Amino acid sequence: MAKTIMLLHVLFATIWLGGSIYTESLLAGANRSGSPKEAMRTLSSVVRTNDRLFGAAGAGTVVFGFWLVIVTTWEFEMGWVAGGLVLALVAIALAIAFVKPKGQAFNDLIGERGLDDPEVLALGKQLQMALHAQTGILFVALLLMVYKP
Ligand code: HEM
Repeated sequence: MAKTIMLLHVLFATIWLGGSIYTESLLAGANRSGSPKEAMRTLSSVVRTNDRLFGAAGAGTVVFGFWLVIVTTWEFEMGWVAGGLVLALVAIALAIAFVKPKGQAFNDLIGERGLDDPEVLALGKQLQMALHAQTGILFVALLLMVYKP
């Protein structure tokens, strides 16, 4: 039973962090193309897909992480468990409070003004910063999970 919960926890975490790293590399490639329109087009589709995929991945990681703590001898008071939980919740809060609404505003603005409007580019920069932060937060959580300091 605990093995299956672990499998599901790690599977959701892999989709979340792996998806985040894949997003970084797609955007890095689009930014390197030298065309701001290309970069904003990529960001526009990434923002929509991430919203759906990462919502499920984040929820699955936390639910099965909680469940693991309940069925094993690990405890919520342990630094690495508490730290992982706080980081996962910060990543989810960032997605709900910032990436989701700003991503919607970004896509609406592209519809109204086009891909190379200065406001679209500025919003795109903010969204990319938030995505970097998310990748960093999830990577630190992975370190806590593996090294259990
Ligand atoms: C935020 C992103 C997270 C990532 C990337 C992640 C990743 C992982 C990975 C890779 C493992 C396997 C480690 C090993 O076998 O040594 C693991 C185990 C575990 N995780 Fe997470 N995790 C995350 C969040 C959480 C949260 C929020 C909780 C608790 C609420 C949690 C609780 C646990 C527990 C209890 C284990 C079992 C450790 C063991 O039995 O060896 N994790 N996690």
